[in-house]
Amino acid sequence: MSVTSQIELYYDPYDADIDVDPYPVYRRLREEAPLYYNEKYDFYAVSRADDVERVLTDHQTFISGRGAILDFIRADIEMPSGMFIFEDPPVHTMHRKVLHGVFTPRRVAELEHKVRAFCASSLDAVVGSDRFDFMADLGSLVPMRTIGMLLGIPESEQETHRHDTDRSLRAAPGEQLAPQEGFADGSSYAEYIDWRAEHPSDDLMTDLLNAELEEADGTRRRLTRAEVLTYTTLLASAGAETTGHLIAWSAVALGRHPDQRRELVEDSSLIPRAIEEVLRLEPPAQQFARWVNRDVEFHGQKVPEGSVILYLIGAANHDDRRFPDGDRFDIHRQNVKHLSFGFGAHYCLGSALARLEGRIALEEILKRIPDWEIDIANARMAPSPALRGWDSLPAFIGT
Ligand code: HEM
Repeated sequence: MSVTSQIELYYDPYDADIDVDPYPVYRRLREEAPLYYNEKYDFYAVSRADDVERVLTDHQTFISGRGAILDFIRADIEMPSGMFIFEDPPVHTMHRKVLHGVFTPRRVAELEHKVRAFCASSLDAVVGSDRFDFMADLGSLVPMRTIGMLLGIPESEQETHRHDTDRSLRAAPGEQLAPQEGFADGSSYAEYIDWRAEHPSDDLMTDLLNAELEEADGTRRRLTRAEVLTYTTLLASAGAETTGHLIAWSAVALGRHPDQRRELVEDSSLIPRAIEEVLRLEPPAQQFARWVNRDVEFHGQKVPEGSVILYLIGAANHDDRRFPDGDRFDIHRQNVKHLSFGFGAHYCLGSALARLEGRIALEEILKRIPDWEIDIANARMAPSPALRGWDSLPAFIGT
């Protein structure tokens, strides 16, 4: 028996020590307890890629309608209609379709030059210096600016919205998430929405204000103001901090692997693949939750109706059964079907935008900063049981 297997296997998403490097615990979960039960917080967890996909494809058994985050399920808060990440088909399908209809590949593609210009100007400011904070100086800024560009929010207001959304998924180390005021009802965007309704333009907010929703009986109607607010809040809360962490994790992974970083400097066509590998290796969202709607079995063990089950993205993405030598960072992996954007009906609606931001940020970084070393002693992780990433990620740079 190995030394590790004598130590009791324990996992919870609030444990800041586990969060520093959860992968050894994930490995034990996959091998020793592929269906894990945590008594303290009363939840089950699946960690193998196949089991995670099974949870995400069976939306009759594993439902999102009571909240898809452990703390939100426990808090039993009522989410407004249209917060479709916390809904189930057929209502989920109806609401998702509206956003899908306006959040088009064209809308995403036309952001490319604006995102690039923002990254370039943020990075130009540090050329010549020997320090750079990948999170504070870039990762925490790009996603909210991008969502602002998408929605047409004036620049002067974007910083306020970033702070509001970051707070919505934060908790002190070891503590549970408390849904913030304004998170679910979108009140922090109300003023902008009213202004945009009076000043239509070529942006996603104007499209939302004009969008039509098809009710179950086939009738069509415009969205209510409350629904527009809800959609806006969903976009900002799902797409801001997650994507910032992607940018920061790219810096960490390539800081640890200078040989692969040099390959990217020499051949930028490898960058999209490197972003996929960063997403796989260091997923910004580590887990989501589902409510179990009827008794079900995993590996011969019963999960009773009324339980909460977590699907562990970080664990599934390192599953050697699917990704040989899963803990190894390798930008040359082929067909990386990671679970960082979920799977099935709730598959991330912003994945194309997140990939675009990650790619452009990395392209612009590597053009100016070919060489860096993360100053890990002074880096600080962001406290959140839902997401895993950095508040501060300083580096010594060679520009
Ligand atoms: C690297 C960045 C991102 C990661 C890791 C990520 C991850 C995820 C995951 C895992 C889900 C599925 C949740 C579940 O199964 O309950 C999801 C859903 C979603 N994401 Fe993302 N996301 C990212 C960026 C974005 C962006 C940029 C946007 C939009 C601006 C966005 C909008 C959404 C929306 C609207 C949903 C709900 C989809 C549904 O329930 O049908 N995400 N995301």
